[in-house]
Amino acid sequence: MSRILTGIQSTGVPHLGNILGAIKPMIHLSNQPEHEAFAFIADLHSLTSIKNAEERKQYVRAVSAAWLACEFDTEKNTLYRQSDVPEVTELAWYLSCFTPFPMLANAHSFKDKSERLNEVNAGLFTYPVLMAADIIGYDAEIVPVGKDQLQHIEITRDIAGSFNHTYGDTFVIPAPSIQSDVMVLPGIDGRKMSKSYNNTINIFLPEKELKKVIMSIQTDSTPIEEPKNPDRCNVYQIFKHIAPEALSNEMHTKYLQGGYGYGQAKTALFEYLRDNFSNERARYIQLMEHPEQLDTLMLKGADKARHVISNVIQRVRERLGFN
Ligand code: ADP
Ligand code: TRP
Repeated sequence: MSRILTGIQSTGVPHLGNILGAIKPMIHLSNQPEHEAFAFIADLHSLTSIKNAEERKQYVRAVSAAWLACEFDTEKNTLYRQSDVPEVTELAWYLSCFTPFPMLANAHSFKDKSERLNEVNAGLFTYPVLMAADIIGYDAEIVPVGKDQLQHIEITRDIAGSFNHTYGDTFVIPAPSIQSDVMVLPGIDGRKMSKSYNNTINIFLPEKELKKVIMSIQTDSTPIEEPKNPDRCNVYQIFKHIAPEALSNEMHTKYLQGGYGYGQAKTALFEYLRDNFSNERARYIQLMEHPEQLDTLMLKGADKARHVISNVIQRVRERLGFN
């Protein structure tokens, strides 16, 4: 059985892009008998950007509720909050003493902000070291991530490899898994759906609000009766990514025929989302109404995670003479 592991920062309510591009594919892998999955909410990482305590708590709950709403099986696998496992910060310290400064100075997470150094905190600079601890602390073999995280996995491999070279086999060297066939969902303005662009669809919104978001998708002003180009329409582009081929082909034809308005396409998209995600929506709402259940489940996951990382930390302490 190989261990797969991934983390999602608690910086917002997971949007449709996160769910289809990260959460669902990971759940698919986690259900395969040859895999055991660790998924965690990277709330320590979120402190590099989010400073408000209430906001963080809400987002931690939202991310964990999203995993559970999409039916991540916590009996077979492990779901936990990063900060419930303090061993990871101890490991991050050990690893930081083996991480060359230039390696961190080259990381995109830091480099992108290096023009405005007064806005960079040390946590953001050492972000990849904590991420390395997240991974090698659990002997993870496969790490499914988006392309933007590839460099962080390379850094993890370098740190683990050089430690093993000096002290003998201590860490499992993880491999990234980039699913190139996973689609990138466009947002309501046509750019990649992303928290940072404010163009997301939150499928967990109450029906009325969800409808409002879908109705706000940007379109041009071609009148109803005229034919329209589906390839240039944000509504169709989103629909095409999520609906079965037969349904999206049908919408494609209606666009080209004319007599089909953007309002009708938006209604079709809204109804598809509402009906197709009705179970996820119901479970999410139920979980968010009972945060104590969520917290208990997360603590149970943290117990399992602590058991694993404690063994790894023991190995490291012995190698370094801290035992
Ligand atoms: P955001 O861009 O909203 O900040 P993150 O960078 O936190 O999202 O991404 C979390 C996970 O969701 C990553 O694995 C990423 O590849 C995936 N993801 C984010 N946006 C999309 C999208 N529009 N389509 C598909 N997957 C996405
Ligand atoms: N840095 C990742 C992101 O922003 C989140 C993350 C933290 C992570 N630790 C991880 C992902 C460990 C995979 C493995 O998306």
